[in-house]
Amino acid sequence: MEEKKLEVLEKIFAIARNLAGLSDVDTLLKRIGATAEELIGAEASSVMLLDDDRKNLYFKLATGTRGGVVQKMRIPVGKGIAGLVAQQKQSLLVPEAQKDARFSGDFDKASGFTTRSILAVPLLIGDDLIGVMEVLNKKEGNFTEQDRDILENLAALAAVAINNARQSEDNRNFFSNILEILVEAIDEQSGYGNGHSLRVAQMSTAIAKELGLDNRQYRAIYYGALLHDIGFIASPEGLMSSVVVSTKDVDRERVHPLVGSEMIRPINILREAVPVVRHHHEYYDGSGYPDGLSGENIPLGARIVAVAEAADEMRKNGLNIDRISQMLNLGREVRFDPKIIEIILPILSSLKD
Ligand SMILES: [Fe+2]
Ligand SMILES: [Fe+2]
Repeated sequence: MEEKKLEVLEKIFAIARNLAGLSDVDTLLKRIGATAEELIGAEASSVMLLDDDRKNLYFKLATGTRGGVVQKMRIPVGKGIAGLVAQQKQSLLVPEAQKDARFSGDFDKASGFTTRSILAVPLLIGDDLIGVMEVLNKKEGNFTEQDRDILENLAALAAVAINNARQSEDNRNFFSNILEILVEAIDEQSGYGNGHSLRVAQMSTAIAKELGLDNRQYRAIYYGALLHDIGFIASPEGLMSSVVVSTKDVDRERVHPLVGSEMIRPINILREAVPVVRHHHEYYDGSGYPDGLSGENIPLGARIVAVAEAADEMRKNGLNIDRISQMLNLGREVRFDPKIIEIILPILSSLKD
């Protein structure tokens, strides 16, 4: 008995350790389901989640032969064993399913699986029900109170995993939607027209990919490129009072890199994009702005965006790809980093076909 408890604890801790690291919730749930089957000695397991309207459960995970068939089926809250567990937020132990009036045979009928016994527990975040987890058909004997404990512990981990995944999905969703709105406003204000920021971001990341940059640099360049002209959305009055503009000069073109970089500086996730925004109008020969940096002193991301932005501006002005390539070539060493020009030229010519 003691050995079994130790095994259970070890397995649960192993999953808990993975909880933070594993971003893929499906993989984690599969592991939790497999662990439940193994520790409890059951033939199959499933995880069902509550629909947005909170009226039905749908399958998130179903192992065993019934897996594929039941995936698309719905369980009304209050109906069948899982439906009752969802309604009452209480575990249920059903030793003889076929003789139990609460049991709904629909899933067995659809899948050809024969359910003999069920242990079902609620998935809870605090008091809030998010779904139900169950194991089916104890291989030897009946489900026990110890099995119920094990499944409740695993269900608690599953609930956290699902909740984490939902929250980060929500965050990503929120962030990318806000970015889209912002980018549209930037393009409107910058005068470069619709889609400029997005195209610059695409071109910049294509260059970053060719350079083999790591994920962190790649993300900084993507965000920096998307937001490179964000300084244009600040009002001229805002620019005047802004700490970054000490001169009386409110030439928006001249100040937008400074203003933009200060706008995004307080946002943690954009911290590494700050130099990209600040320096995207520096020239390779040191004659650009705002800091007159030259050569490799200009951050790499800013050198990339400078080239991508110029190319897009020329495209907007109706120049064809050959002409753009020619112009960029002329700007080597003067405006642009020659290494970046080497990389963008083949990318541009691939756009011709
Ligand atoms: Fe700009
Ligand atoms: Fe731009």
